[in-house]
Amino acid sequence: MIVRGTITVPGDKSITHRALLFAALSRGSCLISGALTSLDARSTAAVLRRLGVGVGALRRGARVRVVAPEALSAPDGPLDCGNSGTTARLGLGVLAGHPFRSTLTGDRSLRRRPMRRVTEPLVLMGAGVEPSERDGLPVTITGGRLRPLRWELPVSSAQLKGALLLAGVVGRVPVRVREPAGRSRDHTERLLRWFGYGVTESDDGWIGLEPDGEVVPFSMAVPGDISSAAFLVAAGTLADEGELRLPGVGVNPTRTGFLDVLRRMGGQVDLENPRIAQGEPVADLVVRPAPLQATQVSGPEIPGLIDEVPVLAVLASRAQGTTVFHEVGELRVKESDRLRLLAENLRAVGVEADAADSTLWVTGDDRPPRGRIVTEGDHRIAMAFEVLGRVRGAAVAVDDLGCAEVSFPGFPAALRAVTGAGR
Ligand code: S3P
Repeated sequence: MIVRGTITVPGDKSITHRALLFAALSRGSCLISGALTSLDARSTAAVLRRLGVGVGALRRGARVRVVAPEALSAPDGPLDCGNSGTTARLGLGVLAGHPFRSTLTGDRSLRRRPMRRVTEPLVLMGAGVEPSERDGLPVTITGGRLRPLRWELPVSSAQLKGALLLAGVVGRVPVRVREPAGRSRDHTERLLRWFGYGVTESDDGWIGLEPDGEVVPFSMAVPGDISSAAFLVAAGTLADEGELRLPGVGVNPTRTGFLDVLRRMGGQVDLENPRIAQGEPVADLVVRPAPLQATQVSGPEIPGLIDEVPVLAVLASRAQGTTVFHEVGELRVKESDRLRLLAENLRAVGVEADAADSTLWVTGDDRPPRGRIVTEGDHRIAMAFEVLGRVRGAAVAVDDLGCAEVSFPGFPAALRAVTGAGR
């Protein structure tokens, strides 16, 4: 495979969700450029519209205008979060401080994902949540006056941390949370600082919010999503020749664990033209093909590459030796049980791989991968194996590449544009 050219990746999913949510709280008119237009971003936009927020159409290349009312209003029906865990969890945080009842639901995958980790601390803050006995969606939340919170998170999760910080913002109460191991992405904290909130981080992992800022109307530009870029970086790495440029990608250090691990494996990725935009580091990525060696990925590294385990596992299947991903149990409650699906699909294309409890092993192979991939509708599984299917001699059939629309609109065309290969 030859990979060459310059391609702009879609806007960052995490930052897009947060920009839309903060805009909804701004009591004014906001403009967001570079926003992601994928199904997940549309879920957040749709939920906000049902709460009385004017959210313009999400169209590629166009700015989105958000017109926020004085206060969010009770929805006239369930809030459908689609496939988006971020919409549901951050949404719960926002709704906890609003004095009305809303029911959040989602697709089959999202309904089985754990929500109690979010609702439990929100109940402590003063929100009413039904049902309390079953984990997952649907969940009905009745917001109200909130109390300050001090809470140790059971897992390092930016969705959970972000939900609690947002509850602090809407409830105007201090919040202190601690993540167990490794820092999850800090986009919420950066945006809060941008709005003048006092956000502190201590060496022992405590993050503190003082409710002393104000979310005012704003304009912002969303950088490219490094989690989407990762699939094209993988294609550029596995290529036989060429050079790929991905301009304007967010390189927030809580998101670049993938690049650290890839470089440790021998990957050749340079960051050019580094800059800061609205408090977020951004750079152009330049990728060249490289032979890879296996590595060990440790527990504390996982929050910084949580969404990149599928693509790293695929890269590991082309590396020399056995790569081990430690403490990746959280992947079992993502859009699919990603550990099981990764091991099964790697074996289906002739690679030695295994997943047990919270560990994943992948032994690299240089024979062409051949076989059928079952995605269970998981966008990142689909994209990772579609990239693997581009190595020389491969014959990999992904059962549903359409699910890539969840996070990367136009992924097949983007991959085709840089590899020149058809589908
Ligand atoms: C996200 C956080 C991550 C990630 C998800 C987006 C966010 O989930 O997997 O794609 O925007 O906060 P966790 O924080 O639950 O690991």
